[in-house]
Amino acid sequence: MGRKARERATALALRRRLAAEGVVVRAARPGEGATVRQLVLPVDPEHPEMFDSLASMIDSGIGVTAAKGKAVHLVAENGRGELVAALSAISPFDWLQGTSEIKQPIKDALARSVVTVEALAVAPAARGMQLGQQLLKRAEELLRAEGCRLLIADFEPSRPHLARYYTRAGFSLLPEGQAMHVGLPGGVILPRESHTDCRTSWKALDAGITVEPGLMVQEHSQTPEPVPGGVLVGVLPSNWATAGLAP
Ligand SMILES: CC(C)(COP(=O)(O)OP(=O)(O)OC[C@H]1O[C@@H](n2cnc3c(N)ncnc32)[C@H](O)[C@@H]1OP(=O)(O)O)[C@@H](O)C(=O)NCCC(=O)NCCS
Repeated sequence: MGRKARERATALALRRRLAAEGVVVRAARPGEGATVRQLVLPVDPEHPEMFDSLASMIDSGIGVTAAKGKAVHLVAENGRGELVAALSAISPFDWLQGTSEIKQPIKDALARSVVTVEALAVAPAARGMQLGQQLLKRAEELLRAEGCRLLIADFEPSRPHLARYYTRAGFSLLPEGQAMHVGLPGGVILPRESHTDCRTSWKALDAGITVEPGLMVQEHSQTPEPVPGGVLVGVLPSNWATAGLAP
């Protein structure tokens, strides 16, 4: 069997398995916070408290149209009514509030424009059906429709299969330990370090995002130096203040 025929056969087998399982992807509902929390614990089993706030957000029904930023919580439910996969993605409030380089209106605009995958997990018994990829795709569609322009996913380098996983989903990977740099209107370059020991990947949800060379003063020197890996430009459109992103 040739490669194309093999791929077709795999896709068909996958569709059959999904149909047999009766899996549907939908928004998480209030009351499902604890189940989602349990599902996503393998993302970071040593820090279960990380997922408490996701569970409360789901239970309080905060959705993608939240005024202050974006939040999307999706689940996959099988034909027996069991939740077998979950994805939560929210605006990167910690990063934005922790930075002093930019003023509040730009922070608010970034919160509407950028979303981070906080958790993505598939129950072991339901793996191999590309449910994670489906959740990512659905989240992207919803977020794009909401005007989001950039999706970020951090992962532990000790799980190298995740580099392949996110690349397959169309994400670009930054080298381990490299911060992302976002270029903003007015020439400001905003660094975003990932959580300790995490590797960052990103996906443009808008064709206006490009990677450009940039210069900035690094901690160890007073002379501007090239930003490693370049600067993500277009995360906020240049007309952001009139494009519905201003508060
Ligand atoms: C990552 C995860 C969501 C993928 O689930 P999925 O969408 O069902 O994906 P699949 O099971 O179809 O696996 C996709 C690929 O990753 C590989 N893979 C998945 N888990 C793996 C692991 N623990 N070690 C090595 N490879 C793994 C699979 O072999 C497959 O590769 P292939 O397509 O080349 O055969 C799931 O493994 C999971 O829930 N992991 C624990 C939580 C986690 O790490 N989340 C991601 C960080 S936010």
